[in-house]
Amino acid sequence: MIYGVILAGGIGSRMAKEKPKQYLNIGGKPIILHTIEKFRLCSEFEKTIILCPEDWIEYTKELVHKYIKKTEDIVIIKGGSTRNETIQNAIDFIENEGNLNNDTIIVTHDAVRPFVTYRIIQDNIKAAEGYGACDTVIPATDTIVESQDNQVVSAIPDRSKLYQGQTPQSFNALKLRELYRSLSEEEKDILTDAAKIFVIKGEPVYLIKGETSNMKITYPYDITVAESLLKEKKDA
Ligand code: CTP
Repeated sequence: MIYGVILAGGIGSRMAKEKPKQYLNIGGKPIILHTIEKFRLCSEFEKTIILCPEDWIEYTKELVHKYIKKTEDIVIIKGGSTRNETIQNAIDFIENEGNLNNDTIIVTHDAVRPFVTYRIIQDNIKAAEGYGACDTVIPATDTIVESQDNQVVSAIPDRSKLYQGQTPQSFNALKLRELYRSLSEEEKDILTDAAKIFVIKGEPVYLIKGETSNMKITYPYDITVAESLLKEKKDA
């Protein structure tokens, strides 16, 4: 079984607005709704699980009922204290439904990446089914400079081998659960990215081609960019 998992458990501290950034409007509609609509285009999902801060569960339910026609296969539950804990809450939900087994796939996606495409989601499903883990990326455009002491350059890695991580990241859910549980509390603090858990445990993570437009909305400036991207798509 395949589950869509929309991660909306953050509070958007860098955006610093009156509500978490996933509830801000672009094109007259909350960002999270744009994202949910993309997931609704994929009939493969058994359910779409939306995880949000506890205080925002009722509000999210109202939004979903207002904007989405068919809501029986959408569930809205509490996220966790970290992004990885939010993903674990989704796996707990699947386990409680009795559907956590070797074939369970989760397609996890940031609620604040509303421009994900049908093609990207489909590629994620196929790769997670085939290989157990995949990560959506685009080639790095800027030169990446490393500094160990944050003062002097320690390395300038070959850009042709560097990518920028996006989402979705998709996994065999049972495998992710197993690997996550094998981490120490210190490792959990450092490993903020779910795909990295596979990498440090020596498990392959396949690359899926992302899109530049699959941007993450983080700062107020990104809202302006997202508005113009939407307008461009509308005018096309
Ligand atoms: N997220 C989540 N659960 C958390 C933290 C983050 O589901 N405990 C989600 C966010 O809601 C977002 C995605 O992970 O959709 C990417 O995280 P980020 O952009 O860092 O979002 P925030 O944590 O909300 O932002 P900030 O770091 O500025 O507070």
